[in-house]
Amino acid sequence: MSLPIPVRNGCHKGRHRARRHFRRTRFAEISARTGVFIFMEKIIVEGGFPLHGRVEISGMKNAAVAVILASAVTGDVCVIDNLPNISDVTHCLKILESIGARIRVISKDAVEIDTRSIRDAEPPMELVRKIRASYYLAGALLGRFGRAKVGLPGGCDFGVRPIDLHVKAFEALGAEVTVGGGCLEAVAKDGLLANSIYFDCCSVGATINTIIAAVLAKGSTIIENAAREPHIVDLANFLNACGADIRGAGTNIIKINGVERLHGCEYSIIPDMIEAGTFMVAAAATKGNLYIDNVIPKHLETLSAKMREMGITVEEYDEAVSVVYTDTMKPVNVKTLPYPGFPTDMNPQMAVLLCLANGASTLSETIWSNRFRYVDELQRMGARIRVEDKTAFFEGNTVFTPATVKAVDLRAGAAMVIAALATNGRTEIEEIALIERGYVDIVEKFRGVGANIRKAYFPDSTKQANVS
Ligand code: EPU
Repeated sequence: MSLPIPVRNGCHKGRHRARRHFRRTRFAEISARTGVFIFMEKIIVEGGFPLHGRVEISGMKNAAVAVILASAVTGDVCVIDNLPNISDVTHCLKILESIGARIRVISKDAVEIDTRSIRDAEPPMELVRKIRASYYLAGALLGRFGRAKVGLPGGCDFGVRPIDLHVKAFEALGAEVTVGGGCLEAVAKDGLLANSIYFDCCSVGATINTIIAAVLAKGSTIIENAAREPHIVDLANFLNACGADIRGAGTNIIKINGVERLHGCEYSIIPDMIEAGTFMVAAAATKGNLYIDNVIPKHLETLSAKMREMGITVEEYDEAVSVVYTDTMKPVNVKTLPYPGFPTDMNPQMAVLLCLANGASTLSETIWSNRFRYVDELQRMGARIRVEDKTAFFEGNTVFTPATVKAVDLRAGAAMVIAALATNGRTEIEEIALIERGYVDIVEKFRGVGANIRKAYFPDSTKQANVS
């Protein structure tokens, strides 16, 4: 099982592209297996041209991974639509398949997930470690079977990523939890019992995991200081469509009235506000104009406000936003905060705009302890940025120079693409698998709005294997 390679409208050009993609991917895979050559994928950008046109935003990664793994608690058949065709989604589906779910791919962005035959088995560590969201399976299995054993998750590396709030919530619901040997094990012999839970800090993951675990618990669970991100609302809407009784998602107090059983449903994932934000920033960074379609403008309000403060024209429509670069961009101060504050997942992309502003700006990070690893890469391209503790200071007026840079994490990789698009000359971006974890067809989408961007495959001399 895997989500299919997208074929554009079945046209000749689309089929040809898909075949070429398949041949290259297979070639790289076979070479890797035989050890003759290992190929490195790069994104190559010939930048310096304004982006213009219309781009369509895909389903939200962080909602999709939560909904897919939460489907395990339903014990029924769910059809999930508007899924982003990205590797994080494929990994979630593989995790479910590894413990007995049946997955049927319906189209390039829809799957049917049958979780009736799922067991409370431990999914393979090599799958679980690939994505952060894999811990949602613990909430789902614990809620459904009263026991779960799941390896501790991976994900982007931008500092310590504890799971103490998840553990605290499972314990409050009556589970005995042990964390050790790279695993989290939770057991509630007589099932979970509702409780009131207060989170010391706003955690998206812990809020989602608690909701998933509590939907079948006996009684009413209250989560205080819950995170308010749109993907939490999406997850709650999905579970409510499956027969759950969750109220208040999107506020900081969520009430979950436990129900006896759930059923399957058909559900469509909301658009990805971070993908949309990435294109908004790219439009301004390249002095272009983009109509960004299939978005929920409300989710983008903080970013839109900051961009307007910089002098960029941002217009909102029912399901779209447009961004038009009009004049030099003014410097601003930005601070990341939980939703509805400025999203930490837009920190690196926003940094590119702050480099280009016509004066000194600051960017303070309050969510992750090590989010500024991309600064070294932007400095390779000529950016003048100084990081002190949790704040980055930007001199502004940067004229980026071409360089070879790498994606140090998913959003940092997107920032490198934007910086490259705003640079006169050829920039090469390495470690692009990190970018593909979260962006659907990023190369094709940027090419569709006028960028000179492509993927290329190079022999990786550092990884050449011995052939005997
Ligand atoms: N935290 C704790 N204890 C916990 C959990 C979290 O102290 O048990 C702290 C973290 O250390 C961090 C803060 O709480 O300082 C927020 O972490 P949160 O749990 O909200 O993050 P997450 O659920 O692991 C999700 C997104 C991230 C996004 C953050 C913040 C998913 C799969 N991931 O992570 O998205 O940065 O929320 O909004 O939903 C991305 O998409 O690129 C990405 C990294």
